[in-house]
Amino acid sequence: MANFMSFLMLLSLLAFAPSCFCHKKLGSYLYPQFYDYSCPQAQEIVKSILANAVAKEPRIAASLLRLHFHDCASLSGSNNNIPAPNNTFQTILTKFKLQGLDIVDLVALSGSHTIGNSRCTSFRQRLYNQTGNGKQDFTLDPYYAAELRANCPKSGGDQNLFFLDYVTPTKFDNNYFKNLLAYKGLLSSDEVLLTKNQESAELVKLYAERNDLFFEQFAKSMIKMGNISPLTGSRGHIRTNCRVVN
Ligand code: HEM
Repeated sequence: MANFMSFLMLLSLLAFAPSCFCHKKLGSYLYPQFYDYSCPQAQEIVKSILANAVAKEPRIAASLLRLHFHDCASLSGSNNNIPAPNNTFQTILTKFKLQGLDIVDLVALSGSHTIGNSRCTSFRQRLYNQTGNGKQDFTLDPYYAAELRANCPKSGGDQNLFFLDYVTPTKFDNNYFKNLLAYKGLLSSDEVLLTKNQESAELVKLYAERNDLFFEQFAKSMIKMGNISPLTGSRGHIRTNCRVVN
């Protein structure tokens, strides 16, 4: 619970960081004291609203967390700059580096997949070798793969949902990394962190062993990601109704 509350606090802090993975750097920056005078209780208010929302629907935490990564004003920015689940390790890392994020950020931020769901369509090719050589995917535990196939058939069921972390799907913890070591990472982009690069594999092992180090780095990397081209001053606006542009 304490971990969950710190996670909510982190989210509430970042809720004031209207940034995006997709824009070019504009040279402005954010500071956590922004609301100190105009709305000193801002963080407490956001935190309690989030806690209520998550209590009603746990997936909202995952949706909001993902939003920090995917929050793009343009469709092309989103399509070109945000890595796809079937991208190679090198492509994913390159896309992170283009935003000023490094391999440590990549591994720590991927730890977000400790909560939330994925649709069948996002990982199906791992189950049926649709990428090409017809060989079994040895990076996926065969029993886990068989369970996944039961609800993610070769065709149909595209929208069926699966936990990204099948052990503790709504708890923010380091089980995601433990799953990777057991070849039970759901997405190809998760698995490649362990199997395609020595440095990222070492980080996966470290975070699987040390929850504290994962949390410490996750917080740093989230703040770093939140600082990518924020729309400060007159460049952006704070929406009156979050569903529509003012
Ligand atoms: C490293 C590259 C990444 C790739 C390729 C990737 C890909 C994906 C995919 C394919 C899904 C499932 C979407 C669906 O099937 O509807 C997903 C879900 C999710 N992603 Fe990522 N992701 C990446 C990094 C991140 C980062 C950096 C964050 C946040 C900091 C993040 C947070 C999440 C969360 C929380 C969910 C669950 C959303 C929900 O349940 O609604 N991901 N991601």
